[in-house]
Amino acid sequence: MRVPLVDLHAEYRALREEILAAVDEVLQGMNLYLGPKTTALEEAWAECCGVRHAVAVASGTDGLTLPLVANGIGPGDEVITVGWTFIATIESIIHVGATPVIVDVEPDTLTMDVDQLAAAITPRTRAIIPVHIYGHCADMDPIMELADEHGLFVLEDAAQAHGARYHGRPVGSLGHAASFSFYVTKNLSAYGEGGMVTTNDDNIAERLRLFRNHGRAAKSDHVVVGYNSRLHEIQAAILLVKLRRLEEWNRRRREIAAIYMERLADLPLRLPVEREGCRHAYHVYGTRVEEREGVLEAFEAAGIGYALHYPKPAHRQPALARWGLNDIATPVSDEAAKQILGLPIHPTLSDEQIGYVCDVLAEALVR
Ligand SMILES: Cc1ncc(COP(=O)(O)O)c(C=O)c1O
Repeated sequence: MRVPLVDLHAEYRALREEILAAVDEVLQGMNLYLGPKTTALEEAWAECCGVRHAVAVASGTDGLTLPLVANGIGPGDEVITVGWTFIATIESIIHVGATPVIVDVEPDTLTMDVDQLAAAITPRTRAIIPVHIYGHCADMDPIMELADEHGLFVLEDAAQAHGARYHGRPVGSLGHAASFSFYVTKNLSAYGEGGMVTTNDDNIAERLRLFRNHGRAAKSDHVVVGYNSRLHEIQAAILLVKLRRLEEWNRRRREIAAIYMERLADLPLRLPVEREGCRHAYHVYGTRVEEREGVLEAFEAAGIGYALHYPKPAHRQPALARWGLNDIATPVSDEAAKQILGLPIHPTLSDEQIGYVCDVLAEALVR
């Protein structure tokens, strides 16, 4: 038996006819950008997140960068985020010329440590980017309280958290804006690049629509210097087909998580937790194993895919040395980097495949 980490082939086999029909419809219409599919996706996604606006962009990275631009955040401003994330979160801050300030994460959920956030706020702080890592929501209530107190802009990095909830409220509706990624492996994914920003703020939404399209207010009227960050209509059409399955797919991810929870409970590894009141989207099923090397060898021999998100915290990457981030103290992130092991949790996996992963893991851990 083989267990791929993500099985895009199986997903495509199940959706092939609908996807081909949707792509054909776009190509017959030859309305390739900012057309009816993008509008329909924006409306549907705004409804899923319970917000007034969803603005499609070309990637999750742009979904982080453009709201910072739209808020006039730039040189001289500090933006606080975590290092336990994909590097794009930090890149977005650097791309607008602001200064990234990194705090550590909580040991249980690996989301932003709120005490450290409070301690990191300075008179130069303009924004906070909490990351809903693996699909588990950061603790947004205290983050929003701090932001209100200090007048800060909160941008949720929801790239991995489509469908996650926090005290009954969908991610994407908790901060002042949020960014989702539709990268090919995400819970809701395109067959190319894509992203979406959600917000309840009319002014931010209007500015995002300008910035994503070269600052164009009318055909020959460019009112700000913008970006080329439009979502392609073919990707919007594919996303609309897949969006109809998102709830069902997330339910299956939760079922798989429950099987892991039951089967792995007595083994010497740390399982992911779901904070009270949170609904995990299980983009990654991130376990932590002290002696990881032996398990990786066993998985490779057994044909089981795994994720190491992340073997190095983003702020330790050499690319960020210039910003003085390589040497800051983040013991929780550093320990997680040594121990993290993401198990396969794609919704097309069968119970047999999940059972096989548990058997191989158990044997490797008690060996
Ligand atoms: C936490 C996080 N933030 C941002 C991004 C960037 O999204 P994209 O790859 O769509 O630009 C990703 C995607 O990999 C991510 O996982």
